[in-house]
Amino acid sequence: MSQVPEHIRIVEEVFSRYRSFVYVGKKLLRWDAVGKVAGRAPIFTADFVSRYRDALYVYSVRTKYAHALIKKLDVGEILNYPGVIKVIIARDIPGINDVGYVIPDQPLIADRKVRYVGDVLALVVARDYYIAREAAERIHVEYEKLPVITNPLDVIDLETLSERKHVLIHDERGSDVVARYRIRRGDVDRGFREADVVVEGEYKTQFQEHAYLEPEAALAVPESDGGVTVIVTTQCPFEARRAIARVLGLPQGLVRVIAPLMGGGFGGKEDVGNVIGAKAALAAYLTGRPAIIIYTREESFISHSKRHPMIALYRHGAKKDGTLVAVEARIVLDTGAYASLGPFVAWRATVHSVGPYRVPYAKVDTVAVYTNNVYAGAFRGFGNPQVHFAVERQMDLLAEELGMDPVDLRFKNILREGDETVHGQLMSRDLGVGLEEALRRAVNLSNWYVKRRKYSAESKGLLRKGIGVAVLWHGNSIGVEGADYSSVSLIINSDGSVTFRTGLTDFGQGALWGLVLIASEILGVPPKYFIIERADTSAVPNSGPTVASRTTVMGGAATVNAAYKLRQRLNEVASRILDCAPSDVEIKVPDVFCRSSPSRKVSWRDIIEEANWLGVPLQEYGYYRAPLAAWDEDTGQGAPYITYTFGAVIAEVTVDVETGEVTVNRIYTVYDVGKVINREGVEHQAESGAIQGLGYALMEELIHDAEGRVMNANLSTYYIPTAADTPEIIYDWVESRYKRGPFGAKGLGEPSLVGIAAAIANAVSHALGVKINELPITPEKVYLILKKSGKLVLDS
Ligand code: MOS
Repeated sequence: MSQVPEHIRIVEEVFSRYRSFVYVGKKLLRWDAVGKVAGRAPIFTADFVSRYRDALYVYSVRTKYAHALIKKLDVGEILNYPGVIKVIIARDIPGINDVGYVIPDQPLIADRKVRYVGDVLALVVARDYYIAREAAERIHVEYEKLPVITNPLDVIDLETLSERKHVLIHDERGSDVVARYRIRRGDVDRGFREADVVVEGEYKTQFQEHAYLEPEAALAVPESDGGVTVIVTTQCPFEARRAIARVLGLPQGLVRVIAPLMGGGFGGKEDVGNVIGAKAALAAYLTGRPAIIIYTREESFISHSKRHPMIALYRHGAKKDGTLVAVEARIVLDTGAYASLGPFVAWRATVHSVGPYRVPYAKVDTVAVYTNNVYAGAFRGFGNPQVHFAVERQMDLLAEELGMDPVDLRFKNILREGDETVHGQLMSRDLGVGLEEALRRAVNLSNWYVKRRKYSAESKGLLRKGIGVAVLWHGNSIGVEGADYSSVSLIINSDGSVTFRTGLTDFGQGALWGLVLIASEILGVPPKYFIIERADTSAVPNSGPTVASRTTVMGGAATVNAAYKLRQRLNEVASRILDCAPSDVEIKVPDVFCRSSPSRKVSWRDIIEEANWLGVPLQEYGYYRAPLAAWDEDTGQGAPYITYTFGAVIAEVTVDVETGEVTVNRIYTVYDVGKVINREGVEHQAESGAIQGLGYALMEELIHDAEGRVMNANLSTYYIPTAADTPEIIYDWVESRYKRGPFGAKGLGEPSLVGIAAAIANAVSHALGVKINELPITPEKVYLILKKSGKLVLDS
């Protein structure tokens, strides 16, 4: 038998030892709150610009067409423009012209062809932005236009899932299919033969834009050793370093990436740091001067990744009593012009494709394909909001067909402790399985049964009310996508403060604060003693990417390791001075004393000084590697994620049947987060996930025309929810305690969005008595659905 590695054993020991908490689960003033509110701190990437007055500006000259061959490119006239220092085209790249994240399919600068409207033909490096932009107009390009594909079903046949004959977008790859995944569990035809009722539907979702407050920015400074330092908006500084070093043809050690706090990320800044960091780095490297790049909102809209649109066919079979027997699904994801995180998104969608239910027979096929749309990649939820919309609509159809209450149908089928997932993964107690409890609480909080009956009975007049439910699951961290590890370092300084470092980044949600609370709890040092440094590849070891709701669970487990080891050494030192057993030492900074006789006491500073005299190291590196995940490519069987965050969402809506307008009145969310670490943090996640999910459900959609041009590339035409759209949000928590999470914690960043659109869609469907198969549920769409269903005729 293999032994449990030490880093896992420590997390398990801490998990079982702590029952009461001083800092964990409490609300404490966040380190960056006052500075942010006062407008002083923190320093965002673009704020560094003022420190480099001689910096050059890098402007991206973009293609006129979404799909074309570049026959001739002449930049001579740009070069002659006063104030232009350099023009960089593909062949000037010293290293490899690629910034792809999962597969190398994305040139930084187009060489042979362009594949979407964000593609770049040249970088103009000039004294200032305006010069660069004006000069850029003097580019001369001869294109050979190619057919533009904006519909993924022009690439793949939804029935057969075979690739259609078409002019290839990635001809160099020989196919525009990016990824395929499948689940095969039992004989699905047999499952459907055993079913008493079968429901099916086709579901569609749209492109969603992250719309973070802070657009992408990078500042690159050439270093005397021939390398370059890049300050860049990225969730993944080590991944950006890899990509930038590759483009420059430098060893990674000569590229230093600094990732300041960000004004939002939501997954959108997972790979765009590769692109924007490489552009700035290239300009700095080739000119020997600092170079900056800041995207305008329009550039951000047309060139960074989006949420994948989905087209899916689902078929569900159940027994008369509601027991699910079979699920069949065909899922097509549009990954746009480049793969970005698409292959991983498609995998996550596949893993979660049947929802958090016991499904004895299943057959799922997922395909991600290229089109000439803006590329799709990581976005909070990562494929999951899409499949949950489809699955949870299907469950409501099934409930209707069976004459069952939608909540009762879910109670009948949800995963509980001891069940097996559709992949054959055992839902053991160690994983923390709190879905049933979450659903029960959401039902009670919302007074579901009373309202469901009441709204059904009152369904007339201009304003119709509805209430809808969705349950969800979300695998924590990255599963089999890559080596799943994280790290932090803690340094106790001689003044008693503690320096906290990690390569994980903070997008504004305050995720790092949760890690500090964990360290505080174990060390006995209050959070205000901590100094949180910004992520810097030259100051910390690789902590893995800041993605996949993994900061609390993975970074937290690494923090547990660092703090635990430090605490053991501190106890030893204190026991020598205080003359009590190390296990008797209590640290409550500024005091350190013996638990059995509190009058024997020294100060925190004395302990630190003593440790330094004795040569006891006061710094520690914490590392955590998740237990191995397993996935069989042919059958989709295994144990894809270390654990799952579960949740139940209930939404109440009012629909105006004259205008088609949907108002969300209330959203109830109950998430099983294992254990609440950062209370302020989980509350904000619950609220922000609900609001961003509401935008996804009702109004957000990036629209391309037939030529692949983005029609609403700004916040004046791409609508996101405002405070006026925000409903009452009521939340609660289930703490099921995941044995290998820090104090039992699981992640919440993404799960807080996953079930929102599904619940709202179900509520709208309830209010109107019609099927809702497509997002976003705009007034126009509701109007047309009502018209088509003959329900537009008002009874008043
Ligand atoms: Mo992400 S959507 O930051 O894995």
